[in-house]
Amino acid sequence: MDRAIIRGIGSYVPDRVLTNADLESMVETTHEWIVTRTGIESRHICLDTENTSDLCLEAAKHAVANAGIAVCDLDMIVTATITPDFQFPSTACLIQEKLGCNDIPCFDLGAACSGFIYALDVARNSIASNASIKNVLVIGGEKLSSVVDWEDRSTCVLFGDGAGAAVISRAPGVGETGILDVLIGADGRCAKLLYCPGSDVSSGTERHLKMEGREVFKEAVRRMCAAVEDILLRNHLSIEDIACVVPHQANTRIITAIAERVKIPEEKLFVNLAHTGNTSAASIPIALDEAVREGKIQSGNLVLLVAFGAGMTWGSALVRWT
Ligand code: ACO
Repeated sequence: MDRAIIRGIGSYVPDRVLTNADLESMVETTHEWIVTRTGIESRHICLDTENTSDLCLEAAKHAVANAGIAVCDLDMIVTATITPDFQFPSTACLIQEKLGCNDIPCFDLGAACSGFIYALDVARNSIASNASIKNVLVIGGEKLSSVVDWEDRSTCVLFGDGAGAAVISRAPGVGETGILDVLIGADGRCAKLLYCPGSDVSSGTERHLKMEGREVFKEAVRRMCAAVEDILLRNHLSIEDIACVVPHQANTRIITAIAERVKIPEEKLFVNLAHTGNTSAASIPIALDEAVREGKIQSGNLVLLVAFGAGMTWGSALVRWT
C-alpha cells in the first residue's frame, strides 16, 4: 500500500513585529506579566494590506520548493484557517489563483488551532483513496490580528499572524517513513469557551474573539495529554521512541503542564512561541519548519504533533520523518 509522506515544508511570517513593550503602550499590561503567563515576547502582525492568502502563498512557495516539485504537480490544496480573506470563496481558491495551478480541488477547513492536524488527515486519506491524487498542499494560515480585540488585554497579547505549509505526497510501497497515524476529535459542548461571532452577528456588538482563559487552559491540557497518550498507545509506542514533540504553540504554561503529565523531556519539546505568539492553525507548521531548519528533526526520526483549539477540537499525528 502506498504511503503519504511530508515531502516538503515551509513557513512565512509578516515583517512587522509587535513586542510586549509595544503592547504596554496599547493596553494596561507589562512585558513581565505576558512573559510569565504565556512565554510570548513578540509576535508578527500583518500590515492592513496583507491578508491570510498572502501569508499562505509565501509559505506554500517555500514548501513546494522544499519538496522539489513544480506547482503544476499539485493535485489538491487544503487550507486550515479561521481567518479567511473572504467569507467565500475559500482562501485555498485564492491561493490556487496566485500559484497558477488551475482546476485542482481547493477548499478551506475550519478546526481552529487543530486545523493543520485535521488537514493532514484529509490529505493522507485523499492520497489513500484516490489514485489521481499524488501531491496535496496543506496550509495553516492566519491573520488573527483581524479578529483580536485590541482593547482586551486578556486576549490581545496572546496571538500573532503567520502561515506554514507542507506538501504531502504519495510514496510508493511499504516503507518506514511518512504519516503513520492521525487522531482527531472535538467537543462542541465547549464551543463558547473560545469563539468569534464575526461581523454579521445579529446584535452587531460581538465582533471579536472571546475566550474563557482559565477553562480553555484546563481543557487544552486535558485533551492534549489524552491525544498524546492515545496515539502512542494505539501504535504500541512510548514517549522514549519519539525524537521530537511539536505542540501547538499557545503558551509555555500549557506546554509545560502537558510535558510534566505525559513525561516529555524538555530536550524533546520544540517551542518557538516566544517570537510567534499563538498563530492558531499556522502554529504547528511554522514550528515544524523551524525545527527542521534548526536540525532538531532528522531523517528517520519519529515526530509527534499535538494540537488543541476552539471547537473545542484536538488532534495528534505521528510522523516518521523522510
Ligand atoms: N496584563 C496584565 N494583567 C492581565 C492581563 C494582561 N495582559 N490579562 C489579564 N490580566 C489580569 C486579569 O484582569 C486578572 O486581574 P484581577 O485578578 O485583578 O481580576 C489577572 O490578570 C488574572 O487574570 P486571569 O485571566 O485569571 O489570568 P490567568 O492566570 O488565567 O492567565 C491566560 C490568563 C494567560 C489567558 C491563561 O488563562 C491562559 O493561558 N489560558 C489559555 C488560553 C490560551 O492559550 N488560549 C489560546 C487559544 S486556545 C489554544 O490555542 C489552545
